[in-house]
Amino acid sequence: MRPSHAAWLALPVALLSSLVAAVPSPAAYQDQQAFAAPALPERSRWRTLSGRLIGSIWGVPKADIGNAAKILKTNAQAPPHTLARYGGDVVLRFNISTAEEAKGLAEAADTLLLDVWEFSQDWVDIRLSKDIVGPLLGLLPASLQQAHTPLLRERELAQAIYDTYPSPRGSSARSHEPAHTPSPLRDRPFGPALQQNDGETNIFFTNYQPLSVIDPWMRLMASLFTTHVRKVDIGVSYQGRDIPGLRVGVHPTNGDEPNPPKRKTVLLMGGLHAREWISTSTVNYVAYSLITGYGRIPSITRLLEDFDFVFVPTVNPDGYVYTWETDRLWRKNRQQTNFRFCQGIDLDRAFGFQWDGAVTTAGNPCSESFAGEEAFEAVESKRLADWAKNETENNNVEFVGLLDLHSYSQQILYPYSYSCDDTPPGLENLEELAIGVQRAIRIAHGHSYEVLPACEGNAATTKQSKQRLWPRMEASGGSALDWFYHELKVRYAYQLKLRDRGMYGFLLPKENIVPTGKEILDAVLYFGGFLSESYGLSSAAAEGVESENSEPHVQDVAEVQEAIPAAVEEQDEVEDDWVWVEDIDIDIDPEGVQWELKRGRRR
Ligand SMILES: *[C@@H]1O[C@H](CO)[C@@H](O)[C@H](O)[C@H]1NC(C)=O
Ligand SMILES: *[C@@H]1O[C@H](CO)[C@@H](O)[C@H](O)[C@H]1NC(C)=O
Ligand SMILES: [Zn+2]
Repeated sequence: MRPSHAAWLALPVALLSSLVAAVPSPAAYQDQQAFAAPALPERSRWRTLSGRLIGSIWGVPKADIGNAAKILKTNAQAPPHTLARYGGDVVLRFNISTAEEAKGLAEAADTLLLDVWEFSQDWVDIRLSKDIVGPLLGLLPASLQQAHTPLLRERELAQAIYDTYPSPRGSSARSHEPAHTPSPLRDRPFGPALQQNDGETNIFFTNYQPLSVIDPWMRLMASLFTTHVRKVDIGVSYQGRDIPGLRVGVHPTNGDEPNPPKRKTVLLMGGLHAREWISTSTVNYVAYSLITGYGRIPSITRLLEDFDFVFVPTVNPDGYVYTWETDRLWRKNRQQTNFRFCQGIDLDRAFGFQWDGAVTTAGNPCSESFAGEEAFEAVESKRLADWAKNETENNNVEFVGLLDLHSYSQQILYPYSYSCDDTPPGLENLEELAIGVQRAIRIAHGHSYEVLPACEGNAATTKQSKQRLWPRMEASGGSALDWFYHELKVRYAYQLKLRDRGMYGFLLPKENIVPTGKEILDAVLYFGGFLSESYGLSSAAAEGVESENSEPHVQDVAEVQEAIPAAVEEQDEVEDDWVWVEDIDIDIDPEGVQWELKRGRRR
């Protein structure tokens, strides 16, 4: 259990300032799951350290967060030190038009260990302390010094972070429970709202949900819908959590026949990158829609007769929990690296096909894209791959579709990710389906998604030459997409980057959970219809899957949306003064750290 009234102290790093950060101590998110967590949440010591190092290098003062505290509408569920960590940060979008500009920006961001959020052919979004903006601009080519606009200004970033956590119980308009209902989750998990209740919004999807709610919710789905839902475990994470999954399907062939045909299976997963919460909520939304639509919506019933779906909303459960309890913007897993100040491996760079971590992140564990020291060093990537392989070898499964959800920038990416020089065998089919999915989303919701090969979406290139602009910063080998496509022979494999296009980035407001869910549900229904046709299965025969001009499944989808009942009662939050002792006793000098970093990078 956690100590609940300890004092949060950032003890000074030797030879650096003797700063004691007095952090406001709002009641924090209450973990209701009986998970044996480490005694204290680990805080990214490197970030603290690097902030101070940069401070000492550049001679900039710590941001004054006192005023921000008064202005921000803080949310009781956000981690207590969010403001201290991000109160002085901004997100800037740089316009880039030449390879030289991109190279200059990449090198500067690398030098300063900045957090590059996303990039396209035309822009790069970078989060950084406002105090670093000046020094950064000083390192850039002259043409770039004016070519930036703030996406999230000082305080807006912190506010956007607070806004992604659920509202405190008392302030919720939907709150109709007495304030002191004891142990709601244990006594009546999601209870009464499961009754059909058409007028009510589905409360589970009005907020992002922590793992401690998602996991019992998944178990509940499995116990309520025993005819077609099973809970599956993908494996155990680095810190010992289950990577939970739901298998949805009716297995009509697995009963009597001695040698049933392989079960065609679609894998829908999210949360490889911890901070991309919309990917997790969207996996759950689509799962819920298919689960509750089975037997009531003919197209969904047929789809689940044709295919099994496996939903894995949090491939990176340790990272996801960390974003809830400690650092909203954490991306990687929580694995210890060989450099003790920088934890975590990027799961989407850690797979064993065309793994290129040795070259691209040069073994630097402090990189947000650190791929590990070797392929499959990242525990969760290895578990997912082993599970998928075992399913195909021992469990009569044939994976025919993969949708790996990420955020942000609204793109549909198809293989390969590692290189634009290698043409995937089924390119025409991949493109055709991607364009169909794009159209399905646009017709139903008016949102435009861009269709690209992942090598372009995941690595900025110049438009003319397709020359890679970000050779060092963003490796794109070792992706889950390529591994499933190439090693597991998943014919239709995609990475979807969900909303938005940069207004909020990873901090997409929760009002987008349901609209994004609907959008991707449409995409999945189109995807399923296309696959049914492609494999000559029943739902295609029954319906004649959409032609070029028809609107795919729109009516069915509207039906699904209406039919989806309110599912889950919002959890009560237990007020708790929740503060932390933090002991950073790193007995080294900054010179040493820099040396080790540089060495790491060159390797
Ligand atoms: C960046 O590019 C966009 C579109 O090309 C343009 O509208 C915008 O003004 C540019 N911003 C800056 C700061 O140069
Ligand atoms: C592989 O699949 C079989 C059959 O479902 C199962 O019994 C076994 O535990 C799995 N092995 C691993 C390592 O997951
Ligand atoms: Zn991602």
